[in-house]
Amino acid sequence: METFRLLVDKDGDNEQIYSQAVDLLENGEVVAFPTETVYGLGAVATDDRAVKKIFEAKGRPSDNPLIVHIGSIEEVSNFIEEIPQKASKLMEIFWPGALTLIMKVKPGVFAPSVTAGLSTVGLRMPDHEVALKLLRKLKKPIAAPSANRSGKPSPTKAIHVEEDLRGKIPLILDGGTTGIGLESTVLDITVNPPVILRPGGITKEMLEEVIGEVILPNKEQQQLESTPKAPGMKYTHYAPEAPVYLIESDQQKVEKAIAQLKNDGNKVALLAPSNYHAIGADYFFTFGIEGDQERMGAKLYDDLRACDKTEANIILVTTTSTEGVGAAIMNRLEKASGGKWYTV
Ligand code: TXA
Ligand code: MG
Repeated sequence: METFRLLVDKDGDNEQIYSQAVDLLENGEVVAFPTETVYGLGAVATDDRAVKKIFEAKGRPSDNPLIVHIGSIEEVSNFIEEIPQKASKLMEIFWPGALTLIMKVKPGVFAPSVTAGLSTVGLRMPDHEVALKLLRKLKKPIAAPSANRSGKPSPTKAIHVEEDLRGKIPLILDGGTTGIGLESTVLDITVNPPVILRPGGITKEMLEEVIGEVILPNKEQQQLESTPKAPGMKYTHYAPEAPVYLIESDQQKVEKAIAQLKNDGNKVALLAPSNYHAIGADYFFTFGIEGDQERMGAKLYDDLRACDKTEANIILVTTTSTEGVGAAIMNRLEKASGGKWYTV
């Protein structure tokens, strides 16, 4: 299959491109599109054969349910039995935006592959002009996971989608680089207090301001049987080819680590703040100044992918605090590294 990547820039007349995307979706095909978090790979959420194509193209395990994207808050009542009051409040404040709400789904409204046999579904209204236009023209909900091969870092540029899925999907709507760069916060609102299944751009602090107590399980709590989990959490994620090691953001320690690794014959890629540029890594990637977590999150997946294009056989990444959006960054880094830390 030939994969077309078509630019949908702000100023152009893109009507034809949207029509093409809608036609493909109506005819049971998949289409990749940008959101404010990462690129998604979408299919009509009521079309089981189309949704199965998403799993196939990504190589995604079939027991990992998909997020359903909608174009307005009003649509929620079509799909959800009883909308919790806290959910309504959150939608009002954070939608459109990077918040996925897990709620009890009406039986039979979505294709069985979307929910993977669960009685709940994750809904979100994306805050991106291209995604919203597509949803409004299609007038149907779109099931869409991130548009990467399963296990790889999520795509924050259309070219990342192309690298992973060329030949496997017919169309990528290219809306440039995504803003947030990390996937949405997934909040299970079927339990009380609600539990964050995946931290993201909408932080625990922001949620608590609106609905009071919210649980963000720590590593020990995540192991507990009683803690709600996203089915996808058990799988490897966000991982480049070369092994990733996390290291404390301390110039002397990082310098020593690099010297040791190089001495042992390794080629090292370092992902760190800009002031680490001269400490001897074979390849250096930076998001900018230390502590700029928004920038770090926005560029993280692009940087991890860039590390993979080098000859490095080991990737070192300096860590950040788990305050605010740092919780989401550290969550992704823990997964990308499989929890490995480099100690000197
Ligand atoms: O920002 C995002 O959320 C992006 C864009 C494209 O919207 N999408 C995304 O989808 O990251 P995906 O499939 O890569 O991640 C969805 C996560 C998975 O970990 C999945 O297990 C979890 O949400 N999930 C989906 N439905 C669920 C449900 N009913 N209960 C618990 N977890 C669920
Ligand atoms: Mg994903």
